[in-house]
Amino acid sequence: MLKYIEETVSYLQDKGFESPELGIILGTGLGQLINNIDVIKEVSYNHIPNFPTATVEFHKGKLIYGKIEGKKVIVMQGRFHLYEGYTLQDVTFPVRIMEKLGIKTLLVSNAAGAINLNFKKGELMVINDHINLQGGSPLAFKGIEELGERFTDMSEPYSLDINAKFKDIAKNNNIKLHQGVYASVVGPQLETKAEYRMLKIIGADAVGMSTVPEIIVANHLNLKVAAISVLTDECDPDNLKPVDIGEIIAMAGKAEPDMITLFTELIKTL
Ligand code: HPA
Repeated sequence: MLKYIEETVSYLQDKGFESPELGIILGTGLGQLINNIDVIKEVSYNHIPNFPTATVEFHKGKLIYGKIEGKKVIVMQGRFHLYEGYTLQDVTFPVRIMEKLGIKTLLVSNAAGAINLNFKKGELMVINDHINLQGGSPLAFKGIEELGERFTDMSEPYSLDINAKFKDIAKNNNIKLHQGVYASVVGPQLETKAEYRMLKIIGADAVGMSTVPEIIVANHLNLKVAAISVLTDECDPDNLKPVDIGEIIAMAGKAEPDMITLFTELIKTL
């Protein structure tokens, strides 16, 4: 893994990806933040050595280097999912690359279903904890010790400091912002009614198919991390309608401007 990381990092450094302070991963249907970047350089995933190739049609799949609010950032437009057939190590490889390039903070976004029925579609949730239901760990492989501590602490995986700032920013900008627990499943099938009931019982407020692997690796690398779920649908097992993935993506796009405000205002304070 180390050899691959070094190869990819030196490719991107040669392309001019110099000392970014912050990394951002954009989730499904959440690509408009790129309009807020002063782009210096961008590279398609399929040109980057050792990167998994992008397959999800909703994503454009590129790594963008530039400035937001004057801060040097790397933005992943489109992420890799377990449900596309990648391994957890593939899915999290870009986090290791961004860390080696120099980021100290990682911001993550995703589209998620609301399990907590006090939360409505179109609203946002700051993730303050998670439940990993993906059946594996991105740290469970031979050679992990050459990259860092195997038994990574997860007592506080999300930055309290950033989450408090999000709360203030939301208040100042009239944005409805919840806090809660995100459960990650493999997908790509949506959940059954019984699964939604289970998710509620075990303490999840939202469910999605991403984010947790990247958060685990970011903690492995001692990055400061925060994540926001854009709630795209309401997962009420007693009134469940067939899911429309087009509607989910449209809802993500509709709620995205609030998420962009949270991210850009936060970046001003970093
Ligand atoms: N499950 C249910 N609803 C969702 C999901 C999910 O994984 N992602 C976005 N909305």
